Amino acid sequence: MTGNDGTISGKVDFAGCLAGHAAAVADFLDGALGATPVAGETARPDRLLSAMRHGVLNGGKRFRPFLVIESARLFGLSPTAVMPIAAALEAVHCYSLVHDDLPAMDDDDLRRGQPTVHKAFDEATAILAGDSLLTIAFDLVAQAEPAVGPPATCELVRMLARASGIGGMAGGQMLDLQFEHGAVGPDVIETIHAMKTAALLRFACEAGAVAAGATGEDRSRLARFGTILGLAFQLADDLLDVTATGDQLGKATGKDAGAGKQTLVALNGVEWARARLDALATEAAGLLAPFGERGAMLKAAARFVIERQN
Ligand code: IPE
Ligand code: IPE
Ligand code: MG
Ligand code: MG
Ligand code: MG
Repeated sequence: MTGNDGTISGKVDFAGCLAGHAAAVADFLDGALGATPVAGETARPDRLLSAMRHGVLNGGKRFRPFLVIESARLFGLSPTAVMPIAAALEAVHCYSLVHDDLPAMDDDDLRRGQPTVHKAFDEATAILAGDSLLTIAFDLVAQAEPAVGPPATCELVRMLARASGIGGMAGGQMLDLQFEHGAVGPDVIETIHAMKTAALLRFACEAGAVAAGATGEDRSRLARFGTILGLAFQLADDLLDVTATGDQLGKATGKDAGAGKQTLVALNGVEWARARLDALATEAAGLLAPFGERGAMLKAAARFVIERQN
């Protein structure tokens, strides 16, 4: 029997907890992406709304919202209080995937086992769906204000903007495109990972702390934990691109090698990548040591990142 704190007789049930949060986040996003315009909007065009829903309500691990919820819970704040923040981050993530898959970027036809948004609709619609998902994310963050208060909400808006934009995810995607075929060293690749992927995972973990009013050492520990997890997450993604099947991932594999992309796995090999993943998970878990047993679910999350098969 799983308790509402995610424990099975003292041991954490990571898979059950991830699935539970994923369902709640999907419900919340389903509600936010309804057909009726909200105050300040004029109309919600059917085609754009359908494309946004296609890009969001299509499975997905929902790992980033899980991190928001569990980081908040580490400091005693309820999942309900941070649900709008968790959903906002998933909206930004889904937007990044819709645009990442476009012909001008990675040119992918399959995402989460379904046609990518530009395949199911068309390129212009996919661009606008991405734009609208990014924009609605800030509407959702603002909805956390009654539960977390105005100062934390303002800080979360700033954090999400910086994690998503030029100095975060979008900037990382720019560098990724610019240097994917260049003879760049591991330091440049790690900077790209820190931006294109780790910035959103860092936001996830730091946001939980900020929403719960954690400051100083606690807040920076969670931010660092998120960054390490993010570096591991992209390395695992690049490893799975080599070792997994398309059925397993719900997206094309062998893409990086096929495109001659410079990844850490291509540079250093599969065995090196596995060892590095292990080191990153150990470092991430070490950051949670001061929280003792309360950090068990996030520690399990670090394991999940390096052991995941999809
Ligand atoms: C894929 O992210 C893109 C990367 C940053 C590597 P996920 O592996 O979290 O994809 P979904 O959300 O589960 O589909
Ligand atoms: C994507 O990295 C990172 C994003 C910011 C979307 P990838 O291009 O490797 O992600 P996948 O493999 O398409 O999911
Ligand atoms: Mg890409
Ligand atoms: Mg891609
Ligand atoms: Mg990839």
